Amino acid sequence: CTFHPHMRGTLVVEGGGGGVEPVRPEFRQPLVVPRVLSGSRLRVRMREAPVRVLPDGPATRMWTYGGSWPGPTIRRRAGRHTRVTFRNDLPRRAGAMSVHLHGDHHAPEHDGQPQTHLVRRGKARTYDYPLTFGGKPEPSSFFWYHDHRMDHTTRNNWRGLQGMFLVTDGKDLRLPTGVRDVPLLVGDRSFTDDNQLANPFAHGPAMHHHGGKMMFTGPNAPPNDITVGTHVLVNGRYAPYLDVTATRYRLRLLNASPFTAYNFALSDGRPFVQIGTGNGLLREPVVRDTIVLGPSQRADVLVDFHGEVGQRVVLESVPLPPGTPGTGVRETSLMEFRVLRKADDRSRLPASLPGPVPVRAPSRVSKTWTFDLHGNPDTGSFWGINGKTFVDTRMDHRVRLGSTERWRLRNTSDMTHYVHIHAEQWRTVRRDGKRPPPWERGLEDTWRVDPGEVVDVAARFEDYTGPFMIHCHMLDHEDHGMMARFEVLPPR
Ligand code: C2O
Ligand code: CU
Repeated sequence: CTFHPHMRGTLVVEGGGGGVEPVRPEFRQPLVVPRVLSGSRLRVRMREAPVRVLPDGPATRMWTYGGSWPGPTIRRRAGRHTRVTFRNDLPRRAGAMSVHLHGDHHAPEHDGQPQTHLVRRGKARTYDYPLTFGGKPEPSSFFWYHDHRMDHTTRNNWRGLQGMFLVTDGKDLRLPTGVRDVPLLVGDRSFTDDNQLANPFAHGPAMHHHGGKMMFTGPNAPPNDITVGTHVLVNGRYAPYLDVTATRYRLRLLNASPFTAYNFALSDGRPFVQIGTGNGLLREPVVRDTIVLGPSQRADVLVDFHGEVGQRVVLESVPLPPGTPGTGVRETSLMEFRVLRKADDRSRLPASLPGPVPVRAPSRVSKTWTFDLHGNPDTGSFWGINGKTFVDTRMDHRVRLGSTERWRLRNTSDMTHYVHIHAEQWRTVRRDGKRPPPWERGLEDTWRVDPGEVVDVAARFEDYTGPFMIHCHMLDHEDHGMMARFEVLPPR
């Protein structure tokens, strides 16, 4: 079977036959919530390990952080300095790794960049995360850590090098906690007949760039590869269920798929109440029936399961409304919530939240930088930013520490991209010339940018000088050059 992301439609499965996930699976395995690590000095060993992903047959051998996929969830109080030592005991063919804490603000040498400060095989590297911003504790956030090795990010994520990282601020807002605060990592994979990971690149030719030289392999050289799996997994399990009480839950939704986007919804039409992005709480809760998340986007939502005992609510991904511009989403069922019994609920839905001050155009913008995202799989041009494909020795833009810049993300290609900027806390200033929707008025690090769309974002550069990255978080695009570098210079 093959997958086609229709330029203006839904991601559809062609061929129907062998190995394609049924749209309505049976929910036969309990959801696994990854174990939590919370000390100030943590150790995580990267190693190959068996993971029980599918309900029947052998376990799947994966490359893991600490023996599981997702790896352990790291949970830390904001402002508490945290050091994580990652040791690379992966098989020889894995090579060197680079661990990126996505969404966090930290020095470039601890950023897990694609080409420097690598974790070589048999060696360890300690990453230093102060969890502060401008000298103050970071907002409570939902970050995640994943491999970022140049040219191999798609492969390494596909193989399982992914985990979640929660930053809490200890403020008592009476949001659901404990077993009612559930992080959910969504990702798709394909399997061989004996449940092992299938080659993610089977859907198209591979392309690599080395030292700025493009090297095409495969029969139709242009980079039309699309890493999409036949099965969609939640916390590393296929079609899991979670027993819940008839109370309010906090779900932290993360799309950790290499390429695929989802439009999350609940099967009985009950809404999500979005309280935050991946980078902190909003100013006020937003009621939403559906939530689109592309690769690496996160949403912090409340779901109220009050009502009848015995009801079953399925978390699904549904088609986008007709006429929605850009690339479609995948349609599927993901997991089931089973309401087992009534229980006390002391949680509260706050009327306002301690989100960032309202977004307004920063008054003192020192510089602007425009990105044109382009490349077209049909015509065969490479993926790039401003006419250039990624080269690890070229600096594309320079900014001064302490300055505020406004960057314009402009999509001149004919498919949607999900653009991620490292290092700072970004505000969405304008989306297509208009005030962004209410759920996009918090802090962000990854934006959906549809064809023809223009998204203006702004940030003040704080604390760290040195090189950082901007790239499309569809991992095939990132590995194939839709990435650029910027450098934060000391103040003049
Ligand atoms: Cu989540 Cu540069 O990546
Ligand atoms: Cu892209």
